[in-house]
Amino acid sequence: EKGGWDSFMDKEIHEDPEAVRNTLLGRVDLDGRLNLDELHIDENAFKSIDKIIVVACGTASYAGIVAKYAIEHWVRIPVEVELASEFRYRDPILTPRTLVVAISQSGETMDTLMALRHAREQGSKVLAICNTQGSSIPRESDAVLYTHAGPEIAVASTKAFLAQITAAYLLGLYLAQTKGTMYRDEIGNTLEALSQMPEKIQWVLDTQPQTIHDTARRMVDAHSFLFLGRHVGYPIALEGALKLKEIAYTFTEGFAAGELKHGPIALVDEGEPVVVIVPPARGRNILHAKVMSAIEEVQARGAFTIAVAEEGDEDVAQKADVVFWRPECPTLMSPLVDVVPLQLFAMDMAMLKHYDVDKPRNLAKSVTVE
Ligand code: F6R
Repeated sequence: EKGGWDSFMDKEIHEDPEAVRNTLLGRVDLDGRLNLDELHIDENAFKSIDKIIVVACGTASYAGIVAKYAIEHWVRIPVEVELASEFRYRDPILTPRTLVVAISQSGETMDTLMALRHAREQGSKVLAICNTQGSSIPRESDAVLYTHAGPEIAVASTKAFLAQITAAYLLGLYLAQTKGTMYRDEIGNTLEALSQMPEKIQWVLDTQPQTIHDTARRMVDAHSFLFLGRHVGYPIALEGALKLKEIAYTFTEGFAAGELKHGPIALVDEGEPVVVIVPPARGRNILHAKVMSAIEEVQARGAFTIAVAEEGDEDVAQKADVVFWRPECPTLMSPLVDVVPLQLFAMDMAMLKHYDVDKPRNLAKSVTVE
């Protein structure tokens, strides 16, 4: 079952490129137009959507935050991301023009299921982004966009996360196409960039494991880790932190880099490992400069910095203690590569501690209780 891999998690991380590729498959016409007829929502209903609320738990909710940054930019409608467990208990504002997007790998997460039932009772349409055919969440939704990551066995979610981002991006671009908020060739170029991601992910899998492994050996006794990122690097910091706590039982905290000075910097002490997701130096270089200054601030307090950064970023090469490199790609595509070294790092840390990486203590693959 595991092929030649040490664990399902190992196998599934190596299926990250396929998860993205298969989720794109058959959904883009030869002339670069998106075809999501499979959704069975008519164009006019789509045109009238004026707000999106993503409901999800854990890793799926972080895919939702990534999607929020992209969809608001592309479609110019507000996107809220809400933890499914909080959603129905706070009287959320739902109308027939609200699209609720339930993201779930298993399709059986009770918190998410209860949230979508609540949304439908209030008259909103629900679209599921799900990896499991025929499971409860897509069955109870108005529409479904399947992620084609293939079965995910390891408890910690890996390839499904990449597939969720891919599917949510397709939904965002489809909305942009329907509502006319992006030019046709802009949509085409974005789809083209998306379709190049599997190769870039493969590059990370081919070239970075040695550095990641060496770093894990060096860090195996660390008591805690901080993860920080900005923009789409923020949800990736949250996801990297979750992976490490889940399977290596290390205390981690992920936060937005800008928040450092509002509290978390008090935690930084001599030798504290801090993982920093660095945005591309090109284009959005204001953010790059800000993240670089966060690196300097934590280093000044003795932190050991591990950066995830774009190949050729000299600034990072000089400043960070260790760098996990990613190939060049547009900012909005970077989550799909940046998360990969963090998945591998968490797995290495858990293996070095002799933990069962596929079945971490106290956790179940799908949480079917509220
Ligand atoms: C993290 C993890 C969980 C799930 C969450 C939602 O590695 O596995 O945080 O992401 O329980 O599960 P699904 O996506 O099945 O609804």
